[in-house]
Amino acid sequence: MSEHKKIFLTGATGFLGSHLAWRLLLEGHHISVLARGSKTLSARDRVVQTLRDVGATNFRNLDVFEGDISLPNLGLSEAVIQNIIASTDEVWHCAASLSFQQEDRGAIFRMNVGGTQHVLALTERTRRRRLQHVSTAYIAGNRSDVVLESEIDVGQSFKNAYEESKCQAELLIADAHRRGTVSGSVYRPSIVIGDSKSGRVTHFHGVYAFIRALWASLERLRRRMPEGGLITLPLRVLGVETQTLNFVPIDYVVDAMIEISRRVESVGGTYHLANPVPTENQLWLPHMCRVLGVQGIQLVGENSFLKTPMTKLEALFQKQMAFYYQYLQGEPRFDCRRTLEALKNTSIECPRVTVEFIHKMAGWYVDFLKARTSES
Ligand SMILES: NC(=O)c1ccc[n+]([C@@H]2O[C@H](COP(=O)([O-])OP(=O)(O)OC[C@H]3O[C@@H](n4cnc5c(N)ncnc54)[C@H](OP(=O)(O)O)[C@@H]3O)[C@@H](O)[C@H]2O)c1
Repeated sequence: MSEHKKIFLTGATGFLGSHLAWRLLLEGHHISVLARGSKTLSARDRVVQTLRDVGATNFRNLDVFEGDISLPNLGLSEAVIQNIIASTDEVWHCAASLSFQQEDRGAIFRMNVGGTQHVLALTERTRRRRLQHVSTAYIAGNRSDVVLESEIDVGQSFKNAYEESKCQAELLIADAHRRGTVSGSVYRPSIVIGDSKSGRVTHFHGVYAFIRALWASLERLRRRMPEGGLITLPLRVLGVETQTLNFVPIDYVVDAMIEISRRVESVGGTYHLANPVPTENQLWLPHMCRVLGVQGIQLVGENSFLKTPMTKLEALFQKQMAFYYQYLQGEPRFDCRRTLEALKNTSIECPRVTVEFIHKMAGWYVDFLKARTSES
């Protein structure tokens, strides 16, 4: 039986944060959550709604504070901060901006770097000064070699402000840990996808945005097709067939984080929550297309467009998907030795992304999109 802790958590309305919060509640911990309200819902209602969607039913051990990580003191009054400090054993920082828009650069840094500074300032005032920080494997930026869990900034360049800001945030944590002002652990998931057993997903980032864009561009063509027919769409996508994307299911990420965070030796450690076997583009893309009922999409190099200029559709798709195309050019290999060592004597193992797995993952989302289209 693990010790019941009082946990202060950011990002509970998001993908990782909601799944983590649910698990922490299930384990009997008390969770205080920092969240933003919306125009129509209070912060508490937003959190409860998101946690219900994930599967939670019991909110007795949940407190919600309306705030904003980008503001000093997280936008909370000193009295509330005092209250949180006095009743927090551990801080879990999941909130971040996942915007990939270059024009959001200022806001991305305010959330991801400024937000981490504010969370650090709070953690330093808590009794145990324990911080579990969620980063990303893609702080590796444009590196193409093997990335060690012990490395942060090796002079790499970045694809976008998100990667760069998350790398700066990690440097802040490492510095605070070195100075002894917090006891930090850092988790670096790769691309988080739905549940490994059901394929179910609750938030639609990354590869799901790619599937959604493809689905939307097929909509018009699909209406002209007989039910269940395969659409032929000659579309060249700039990407390298033998390069990989690194997918990890949400249940693995949550299981691994919870397990590692309990271990005393994880203090000061950084953990790649990445798939030891990443998936080649030439495997996941064709199978995802099969689930979408489309054929004719192929990965090509720049040369192809020099020989035959882009069609209007290809140019449009490239413009809309510019962000995702960068990741189809290649990624580093994430060395997971420390994570695997920590999970060695447990049953927690990252599943291989097999063909069956891709069908389950993409199939769940396509069924979801179909149901939503038929409702509207
Ligand atoms: N999803 C992935 O594939 C993936 C992969 C690697 C690493 N990560 C990391 O995992 C963490 C969680 O990502 P996610 O996928 O769960 O993202 P998400 O679904 O977009 O959730 C982001 C969360 O941060 C909150 N947030 C953003 N700005 C805030 C602010 N100013 N004040 C308070 N809360 C704020 C959001 O609240 P609102 O609902 O109010 O916007 C939301 O709860 C991030 O640190 C991310 O870098 C994610």
